[in-house]
Amino acid sequence: MTSKFGAKECYVYITLPGATTFVTAGRFVLDIQRSGVTVGRFVYGKSYLGRADAVPIDPVELKLGTTTYRTTALKGVFGALRDAAPDYWGRRVIEKHAGKARLGELDYLLFAPDDRAGALGFGLNQEPPAPRRQFNKTLDLETLQKLADAIIADEDMPSGADADQVEDLMLIGTSMGGARPKAVVEDEGGLWIAKFNRPDDPWNYARVEHAMLVLARACGIETAESKITTIGDRDALLVKRFDRERTEYGYRRARMISGLTLLRTEDTHQHRERWSYLLMAEELRRICAHPQQDAIELFRRMCFNALISNIDDHPRNHAVIARESDWKLSPAYDLTPTTPVSIERRDLALQCGDLGRYAHADNLLSQSERFYFRNEEARATITSMEQCIKGTWYETARRGRVSERDCDRIASAFVYPGFRLQL
Ligand SMILES: Nc1ncnc2c1ncn2[C@@H]1O[C@H](COP(=O)(O)OP(=O)(O)OP(=O)(O)O)[C@@H](O)[C@H]1O
Ligand SMILES: [Mg+2]
Repeated sequence: MTSKFGAKECYVYITLPGATTFVTAGRFVLDIQRSGVTVGRFVYGKSYLGRADAVPIDPVELKLGTTTYRTTALKGVFGALRDAAPDYWGRRVIEKHAGKARLGELDYLLFAPDDRAGALGFGLNQEPPAPRRQFNKTLDLETLQKLADAIIADEDMPSGADADQVEDLMLIGTSMGGARPKAVVEDEGGLWIAKFNRPDDPWNYARVEHAMLVLARACGIETAESKITTIGDRDALLVKRFDRERTEYGYRRARMISGLTLLRTEDTHQHRERWSYLLMAEELRRICAHPQQDAIELFRRMCFNALISNIDDHPRNHAVIARESDWKLSPAYDLTPTTPVSIERRDLALQCGDLGRYAHADNLLSQSERFYFRNEEARATITSMEQCIKGTWYETARRGRVSERDCDRIASAFVYPGFRLQL
């Protein structure tokens, strides 16, 4: 490494299906052209291509082959690579760590610790590093939460003798995406994402999100496993990582690409026309081993989000994973109710039917055949999910020790009147 920050190229490593250590898959170069446009280039290594067990990093955009792939989208970072980089939360932590250095997209990839989502790793050496053996333990959660609070409050990271240790602690777990404070922790059961409550949250997010995952399971949706842990007088949500599997030799990893990459779109406003459940069902058809099963599951998630007013169902809150060579929809995660003022019309983040993003029963039904449903089956699915949510959300929340006061605060999220408004 010549300088700490500012790299323009790196090697991309991958943990192959069934393995627990990295091999080098290829090389990624970022080229800022005179015009100001950044071009990203990726090429698979010859020895990687020569392996019988080589798998593509992205089954659509980066198929196995000797081509030099190029992109100018996403500041030159291919979607599958961007999915392995931190988002708002992790970037904030890395910026704190980097001090005044100006960071480029590659810095965020290289500086994020090796617990990122999916099977990829990044580094400046052709030889991949040994796998990380140490993770934060659930016992460290109190320290991690304090650090998260300090970052939220924009305080300086603690300095002095143990500053290095603090940085290590905090950096482990920052490469996961998302905006909310989180860390990756290990216990005897494996790796978990700890999602902390923020002091300014309007309700106990950890308990409510856990209750939503339980409710989604009751509605027939496959979700990430979760549990609540209490640190001092604060609750945190632990979500089991579905892209890691502990073995006696280390962790196996699943490849993972976000809905954003699957849809070939970006986070910005101009790209929103491709933010769509209908298009996502079509993309699943292109890459998944069992597209019908996955499309039906996606339909359920779309309806569930409409019925709990989860309008933060943006493309990064969906993903596909490959544990072996086959791709499938990942378990559902990040299910959060919202309480918009309007009781007549709420819009999901993604288009869900002829009427665009409108979270309305008829709109959800309007294109159900694209999810391999006959209209009557889709209608019955919506009705039973609606009954399940109306009838059980409150007791599910209370059983998960969401307070009476918080239940009052979130009540208007469930089966809002506009869902069945006469059109
Ligand atoms: N159980 C899981 N296993 C593996 N990866 C996960 C899991 N849950 C979430 N992720 C990954 O971590 C990212 C962040 O998680 P999550 O969406 O729960 O965080 P968030 O901060 O609430 O997000 P947002 O910014 O959407 O509010 C996800 O986009 C996904 O890539
Ligand atoms: Mg999210």
